[in-house]
Amino acid sequence: MTTTKPKVFIARPVPPEVEAYIGRHCTYSKWEGEKPLTSEQLAGHITDVEGLLTAGGRIDAELLDHAPHLKVVSTMSVGYNNFDLVAMKQRGIKGTNTPNVLNDTVADLIIALMLSVARRVPEMDKYVREGSWKRGDNESLFGLDVHHKTLGIIGMGSIGRTVARRAKFGFGMNILYHNRNRNEQGEQEFNASYVTMEELLEQSDFIVLMTPLTEDTHHLIGEAEFSRMKKTAIFINASRGQTVDEEALVRALQNKKIYGAGLDVFEKEPVHPDNPLLSFPNVVLLPHIGSSTEKTRLDMAMQAAENMVSVLQGGTPAGLIRELRD
Ligand code: DGY
Repeated sequence: MTTTKPKVFIARPVPPEVEAYIGRHCTYSKWEGEKPLTSEQLAGHITDVEGLLTAGGRIDAELLDHAPHLKVVSTMSVGYNNFDLVAMKQRGIKGTNTPNVLNDTVADLIIALMLSVARRVPEMDKYVREGSWKRGDNESLFGLDVHHKTLGIIGMGSIGRTVARRAKFGFGMNILYHNRNRNEQGEQEFNASYVTMEELLEQSDFIVLMTPLTEDTHHLIGEAEFSRMKKTAIFINASRGQTVDEEALVRALQNKKIYGAGLDVFEKEPVHPDNPLLSFPNVVLLPHIGSSTEKTRLDMAMQAAENMVSVLQGGTPAGLIRELRD
């Protein structure tokens, strides 16, 4: 007996081995345009599919109305703030993401941002390249220590724990965290202290924001929060740009309320050349590359493909988004 393979659409480029895996289990078509496809283009490609593999791009009621057969949307990311969960739930469409596989890679990048801002690495690189290095010890180049300082993690999930492990055992840091729920595993493993948001903001030398973007966390860090931070605090955001009021961050930097910032994410991506954040030497900016190593991106794409196939075969993959479980 031959069974018909489910039809799916691959909206973002995937490595050949992932495409081959999808081809073994599904009939597929894929987006081959140079630029990411628009919502209108996506709508035209999903009218008869049961599965959609994507990353980013709004998945909302308007789009889903074009896809009456859709059973699953699988994103190649841990963040799924682009999913309208209510619209998906109403239509019985499952959503999947790629947690855990990227923890170490994102944590490495967060540590890189902490070190880069504290030791002013991009600024120093520029200094050497442009021939400004004329004499030996120059105290105008001094930065701040990372080791043995206090790290405050807002959003102590699996990535936060992976950062805390590096900070504690690699740099001897003291770990504070603030979360919706206590993370007893983290408390035992790194002797982390669960503190209020105010305590975290006031006591931390490094503040790492890792909370997912939801209605509750939109602009979680704004004017009032920056005002509580130490003048020597370094603020790192590797979650989603909209968790921070960027205008308030700019004001905090202009008024020297904090020492500097390391940002992998922005309210509007890609960053516009006029964004005032680009003008601060004490801000290190990255193009949303937290999980972007060759291996981790391959693993994420494969996990996303496996999640999608699993749902289409009636399974319950590990990446099934909790809000969309039955
Ligand atoms: C994620 O996986 O959510 C990363 O931020 C890449 O989008």
